[in-house]
Amino acid sequence: MGNGHILETKELSINFGGIKAVDGLNFHIDKGEIIGLIGPNGAGKTTVFNMLTGVYTPTSGSILWKGENIAGLAPQEIVKRGISRTFQNIRLFGEMRVIENVLIGSHTNIDYNLFDSVFENNRFKTKEDEATIKAIEILKKLNMEDKIHMYADSLAYGDQRKVEIARAVATGAELILLDEPAAGMNPHESEELLEFISNIRDIGITILLIEHDMSVVMNVSDRVYVLDSGKLICNGLPEEVAHNPQVIKAYLGGDAFVNR
Ligand SMILES: Nc1ncnc2c1ncn2[C@@H]1O[C@H](COP(=O)(O)OP(=O)(O)O)[C@@H](O)[C@H]1O
Ligand SMILES: [Mg+2]
Repeated sequence: MGNGHILETKELSINFGGIKAVDGLNFHIDKGEIIGLIGPNGAGKTTVFNMLTGVYTPTSGSILWKGENIAGLAPQEIVKRGISRTFQNIRLFGEMRVIENVLIGSHTNIDYNLFDSVFENNRFKTKEDEATIKAIEILKKLNMEDKIHMYADSLAYGDQRKVEIARAVATGAELILLDEPAAGMNPHESEELLEFISNIRDIGITILLIEHDMSVVMNVSDRVYVLDSGKLICNGLPEEVAHNPQVIKAYLGGDAFVNR
């Protein structure tokens, strides 16, 4: 890998019919960074996540994860390598409890074999116990400890987002992609979320954050990339990006999304 970037894209592109949803994107993330990915609605942010996580196969370009090109790998292969995500449209099992939803994340990385699970031997139980303890720990850090036995369906929107984030953390991922995690949260919840994001970075997790709310991105990100119509128009420190004329124009010209 040489340059030490944990993740790096090279000329990453995808077309849908005639539309270049992402067009020649070059960006990188270093271990331990919190990177903001912003831009107006339709800029291509979620599409970038879909390519990074194997939901979409890029039309061209590469995605280097620790030097290995993972472009076009299946989603489960990418999770195994240490990248997990949350979805802009929450995807929880509504009829399952909070703790069960989070444990689904742990199961992607528990490697007991069929024999162990069929006979429920000690190794299986120990792994299950470990996963449960870890899941509860994560939920506690998100102030969700009193809700672990509630059904996901019955939770407020902000709490459902937290469960998604907990599930992503429970996979043991090194890189977590958060797609508008503060959407549907009140200001107090957003603030707590920012604290949580900083906390998981402090334990060594790297974060790529798509966010609509400029103030959230600016407060928490080490660096910010700005997409507009599939193209990178600017990147740098939050304060540099916030004052960039092209960024201001993109925001005001499009679906104004500051303070929405
Ligand atoms: N599966 C798809 N098929 C066709 N067009 C798509 C698909 N996914 C995304 N797009 C298009 O790609 C562009 C970028 O969308 P998206 O990545 O969701 O934007 P953002 O997350 O920045 O709001 C939009 O024009 C969108 O309609
Ligand atoms: Mg999106």
